[in-house]
Amino acid sequence: MKISVIGCGYLGAVHAACMAELGHEVIGVDVDPAKISALEAATAPFFEPGLPELLASANASGRLRFTTDISEVAEVDVHFIAVGTPQKKGEFAADLTYVDAAVTSLLPYLRDGALVVGKSTVPVGTASRLAELVASAPVDAMLAWNPEFLREGFAVKDTLGPDRLVYGVSSGESGTRAVSILDEVFEVALAHDTPRIITDYATAELVKVSANAFLATKISFINAMAEIAEATGADVTQLADAIGHDARIGRRFLNSGLGFGGGCLPKDIRAFRARGEELGLGDSLAFLGEVDAINLRRRSRMVDLTREVLGGSLDGKRVAVLGLAFKPDSDDVRDSPSLDVAMRLKAEGATVIATDPEAIETSRRLHPELDYVRTAAEAVVGADAVLVLTEWKNYRELVPTDLDGAAGRIILDGRNCLDRERWRSAGWLYRSLGRP
Ligand code: UDX
Repeated sequence: MKISVIGCGYLGAVHAACMAELGHEVIGVDVDPAKISALEAATAPFFEPGLPELLASANASGRLRFTTDISEVAEVDVHFIAVGTPQKKGEFAADLTYVDAAVTSLLPYLRDGALVVGKSTVPVGTASRLAELVASAPVDAMLAWNPEFLREGFAVKDTLGPDRLVYGVSSGESGTRAVSILDEVFEVALAHDTPRIITDYATAELVKVSANAFLATKISFINAMAEIAEATGADVTQLADAIGHDARIGRRFLNSGLGFGGGCLPKDIRAFRARGEELGLGDSLAFLGEVDAINLRRRSRMVDLTREVLGGSLDGKRVAVLGLAFKPDSDDVRDSPSLDVAMRLKAEGATVIATDPEAIETSRRLHPELDYVRTAAEAVVGADAVLVLTEWKNYRELVPTDLDGAAGRIILDGRNCLDRERWRSAGWLYRSLGRP
């Protein structure tokens, strides 16, 4: 099929490359010329395992091209909207400017029978409004909502082999046509028995935001238990293991630590709450305010713990921060708990030496005032305390002799990812969030 992907950020660039990999003829469109030239040169504008290889093979196949000129999509059958829906400045609600602009810019170039497919995460009610906009085009075009559940770090795998497909379509004949077009797009995944849920626009939109709300709640639940564990001498990681054996609960997404960040969970739960209030249903989603508050308290707790182990003040102390990305296998520092903690330590007078396997450049762009070094061994030189804030594999595997350069033998595990006994038996003071 001929496919366009409007918006070539984390979601769109991966989606475009994966659609080409599946055999479709794809054109990626973005307003940012720098992003487009990088993608044309098969360079991923962000770190995502597997993406550079996929871009190179798709570009070489001739099935993937990129442009800043929206008029080049005129021959396309299916247009995916993959632009961002960031949090509005000073508000919790989502900013729909880019989604609205993307759909509006497409209208003059829609051909008869074209399908516009929303993938961006939007407040419930957006798709039915956009469907009216698409219906105002001079041709017979349709809208579907097909939310994306990809995780950064696994984006290629999640896009090529999704664990479910959700199609939000209109009722009647045009909805049936939309379903058969989407089935053709996702033929390969469907042949592998990927579950497919066909539903209305509102349910499709809600599937995405409620999935993220559930995941955020699960993380904040275990972090609330960590607060209780800290006060009572219990061990939150053993607690998670034990309750996780109950198949109804499950162990995944019960890792307690610094909490969630990134470009999705924080802003999505806030936008969901804001939408609930707009709908007069604030009480139904008020708990998400607690989920957010518990999550943000983990960062303060980490700073408090660092101050405590360093004798009550951070002023003049040298602290090594290992990990800046919001999670491993990503260079994304949007709303990163680790970077936030690093900045708070600095604000209290500490000298922070920070490192990350991939996220130094992205961190530097936001916070040039921090000191960055390439490796953990460099970061710890002369450090009074070492903080592991993102659980990259190479930090999880550190052994005490790797950090011989540190001045103090204090290690704080912000992700409960280190072997406590290994560090204690080597004479280090090991502290973590939620464990004695
Ligand atoms: C998330 C959703 O998982 C994905 O389905 C959606 O499409 C986009 O948002 P992502 O932002 O890539 O994906 O990251 P995810 O793996 O969900 O992790 C989010 C945050 O939660 C990270 O900061 C991570 O460190 C934290 N986390 C995750 C925990 O603190 N504990 C856990 O047990 C799991």
